[in-house]
Amino acid sequence: MITTKTYIVGNWKMNLSHQEAMDLMHNLQANYQPQPNCEVVIAPQFPMLFSLSQTLKTSPIKISAQNCASELTGAYTGEVSANALLGLCDYCIIGHSERRNIFQESPQNVAKKFFLLQDLGIIPIFCIGESLQQRASGMLESTLIAQLEPILHTKNTNFIIAYEPVWAIGTGKIATSEQIASIHLFLSNLLAKKQHSTPILYGGSVKAANSQELLQINNLHGLLVGGASLKATEFLEIIKTHKNNNE
Ligand code: PGA
Repeated sequence: MITTKTYIVGNWKMNLSHQEAMDLMHNLQANYQPQPNCEVVIAPQFPMLFSLSQTLKTSPIKISAQNCASELTGAYTGEVSANALLGLCDYCIIGHSERRNIFQESPQNVAKKFFLLQDLGIIPIFCIGESLQQRASGMLESTLIAQLEPILHTKNTNFIIAYEPVWAIGTGKIATSEQIASIHLFLSNLLAKKQHSTPILYGGSVKAANSQELLQINNLHGLLVGGASLKATEFLEIIKTHKNNNE
């Protein structure tokens, strides 16, 4: 992936009815003014992917799934194969801390999804992040390395990393710019050792009030936005900060 772009990704999580999702998408579509070097992506729930992908076919707004199965096919009731996502999205979020923690997804399991998606040409947005306890006990870097290790040997450069400190997700407690800058530098060096110049996004309590400052941090190439992506005006404000920073 090229790191000259800024990615603003809205993770809608398990929110919005089909109608509400369509309304939000229409609102974004009507009011989003495309900006050079800015990739805007929205991640609705699975059942909305088809309608949204039909409507956004020629739009600069791109679509991401929120997860996929770690197997491509078979008897896995209730799972959604990456194969079934083909044609419906350009990106797929994997390894979100809510998946790793609530659904006990292992690093190996997330890595399997990563390679399946890469093989199919869907760009993985690979999430990593430490808990407060891991940070407090000096295990910040080793936690991130353990999460990244299973995918670092990929030769395919088509992927994005999203650094999301678990304690900052949905809590309103944002990491300081210094904390974020030092992790992004650490990750960027780690990826560079494997010849990857991967975009590294930040996520965790991002909102319009802090997005401008965040987007000025070195080695930070975009934002993964949860709660604040559910309101069109707020999400459009966040997208606009990229423009403001570049004027
Ligand atoms: P938040 O979620 O912006 O609501 O903190 C971010 C995420 O989980 O991706």
